[in-house]
Amino acid sequence: MKITVIGTGYVGLVSGTCLAEVGNEVLCLDVDPAKIKILKDGGIPIYEPGLQDMVKRNVAAGRLHFTTDIERAAHFGSVQFIAVGTPPDEDGSADMQYVTAAARNIGRYMTGYKVVVDKSTVPVGTADAVRAAIAEELQKRGVNTPFSVVSNPEFLKEGAAIDDFMKPDRIVVGCDDEQAALNMRALYAPFQRNHDRLILMDVRSAELTKYAANAMLATRISFMNELANLAEKLGADIESVRRGIGSDPRIGYDFLYAGAGYGGSCFPKDVKALIKTAAVDAGIDLKVLNAVELANDQQKHVLGNKIKARFGSDLSGKHFALWGLAFKANTDDMREATSRQVIKDLLSAGASVTAYDPVAMAEAMLCFPNEPGLSYADTQGEALNNADALVIVTEWKEFRSPDFEIIKAKLKSPVIFDGRNLYDPKLVRGMGFEYLAIGR
Ligand SMILES: NC(=O)c1ccc[n+]([C@@H]2O[C@H](COP(=O)([O-])OP(=O)(O)OC[C@H]3O[C@@H](n4cnc5c(N)ncnc54)[C@H](O)[C@@H]3O)[C@@H](O)[C@H]2O)c1
Repeated sequence: MKITVIGTGYVGLVSGTCLAEVGNEVLCLDVDPAKIKILKDGGIPIYEPGLQDMVKRNVAAGRLHFTTDIERAAHFGSVQFIAVGTPPDEDGSADMQYVTAAARNIGRYMTGYKVVVDKSTVPVGTADAVRAAIAEELQKRGVNTPFSVVSNPEFLKEGAAIDDFMKPDRIVVGCDDEQAALNMRALYAPFQRNHDRLILMDVRSAELTKYAANAMLATRISFMNELANLAEKLGADIESVRRGIGSDPRIGYDFLYAGAGYGGSCFPKDVKALIKTAAVDAGIDLKVLNAVELANDQQKHVLGNKIKARFGSDLSGKHFALWGLAFKANTDDMREATSRQVIKDLLSAGASVTAYDPVAMAEAMLCFPNEPGLSYADTQGEALNNADALVIVTEWKEFRSPDFEIIKAKLKSPVIFDGRNLYDPKLVRGMGFEYLAIGR
């Protein structure tokens, strides 16, 4: 098939590349010329394990192309994926301007039948809005070209995105017409040869499914974080509790880790958008999700608060080593990362910070362009120099088994604040550290 992917970010680039990998011819469009230049020069604008090689291979095979030419993109694919950003608006609702612009561009230039696929995470009712925008543009041109609009939310996880796309747990397709459903089945057949994982439903249910999935995962995290705070006060260990409840198959072990709050480009904005949709479009107050969000906002201060409780609320003259900037391991994504809040809390209390992250430092520099109290180290060891304590924010593998003797020798005081519960408290405390983790 010939496929256009509109928006070449995390989702668009991964989806487009994986669709090319199985033999389709794919054209990825972006309005950001800098991104397209990087791709045309053989690089990739994001960090995602395995992606660079896959892009290279498919470009070399002549199946994967990049462009900023909107008209060419609208002509190219019989399937047009919309994978642009849907960032939060000021009031928390999803900002739909990029989706609408993408839809209008399709309508402005398309010739021949198109299946337009909403892959971005979009509020219920967006497919109708996309359909109306395309129809309006076609009407302006005085043409009556047929098209279908399908909802196909994406469930990939940054850091494991290729595997998630190539071997999906499920492919949700919301579709109201048969022709488009057939096209979507054919498109996804190579990704589900073992057994059918395509779940066909109506468009509105598909749109809601994506928000429901992220809201559920965010709820598990906030639930565990609240229990961790309780466990700490009661003298229990949240890790033991996690193992105890995870063994129940109705609960399961995944997404039960207590930590310093969730971040990233999806959970915070999707929880907010669902709360907003419910309130505005349905007059419903989603009480559970409001609490999930509130608990998470508070949890992002948990490291800062622990540090102030230990070193005093005035941190002037104190210096901290911070390991991990990305919102989770295996990505350079800094959107809503907990590290941003921790750094702000420390700097505003007068401390200085030296941070290290294996891949996210360039992104972090964009988030904190002018922060005299914040510096960066080339290695995790270098970050420890002259620090009063070590603060761990991201669960990168290389932080999991460090040389504790070196850490102890370098720190002014042997104190570790661990926002990811990476270590065995007994072991670390046995080595003479003061170890302050989450719920332990
Ligand atoms: N990042 C994830 O892990 C993930 C996972 C599942 C779903 N999603 C959803 O997928 C969508 C995209 O997320 P992302 O993280 O890939 O975003 P992103 O910000 O990385 O990429 C979006 C891209 O779209 C481009 N763009 C904006 N308007 C455009 C237009 N009119 N035409 C062409 N390009 C345009 C931007 O320049 C940008 O490069 C969002 O709705 C998000 O919620 C993201």
